[in-house]
Amino acid sequence: MSRVLRIAHRGASGDKPENTLSAVAKALEIGVDIIELDVRVCKTGELVAFHDMTLERTTNGNGLVADTSLEDLKKLDAGSGERIPTLEEAIDLIDKRTILNIEMKGKGVADRLAAILRGYIENKAYPPELFIVTSFDKEEFHQFSLKNPGAQLGILVGRDILSAPSRARKYGAHSIHLPQPYMRKWLVRFLHKKGFKVFIYTLNSIWDIAKAKIMEVDGIFSDYPDRI
Ligand code: G3P
Ligand code: CA
Repeated sequence: MSRVLRIAHRGASGDKPENTLSAVAKALEIGVDIIELDVRVCKTGELVAFHDMTLERTTNGNGLVADTSLEDLKKLDAGSGERIPTLEEAIDLIDKRTILNIEMKGKGVADRLAAILRGYIENKAYPPELFIVTSFDKEEFHQFSLKNPGAQLGILVGRDILSAPSRARKYGAHSIHLPQPYMRKWLVRFLHKKGFKVFIYTLNSIWDIAKAKIMEVDGIFSDYPDRI
């Protein structure tokens, strides 16, 4: 039985502000296997690590990320004085030390993301398997797959569990990422038999993490990856 992969959800977001460089640094300090970050496009076209469509919940700003320039985003406090990082800043900080799971949020991310990853893979000799790309948005995901420079693909399941195996086959996916309500022994077994790795999001209690391990899931997303 292989060891379960420890995945830092939005970085080590239980300890540090989510999707910030300090959350990434904390995850690296813990020694996780994978760091998950959300990525969306801002007004000036850069990709930034940010979960919500709007700024209110996690910063002292307001309005849409998509309506805000990178220069203005950089002026905001994303928690404890942290700044909103660009995707490249996060990749550079990780510096090949862990796999990065990039979750595309919103529209207009796929082509830009493919171009950025191509730069790292082709010009900076990053092994493509250091990147796993996912999205709840099936169109955006498909668009990324058309331009994918070699990153691994993960099928991110929200509610639509039924199409997950066929989508995983279609895209040659590395893994299927299930929400906690789908954490069922029979389903994990079924997906394993089909040849897919199963990751579960987002488990923070020691009890849930223990249950997932007993079910032999392959990876666990947690805000507290040191609990895994
Ligand atoms: O990728 C798994 C998980 O991060 C998806 O949910 O809302 O935390 O981005 P959310
Ligand atoms: Ca996410």
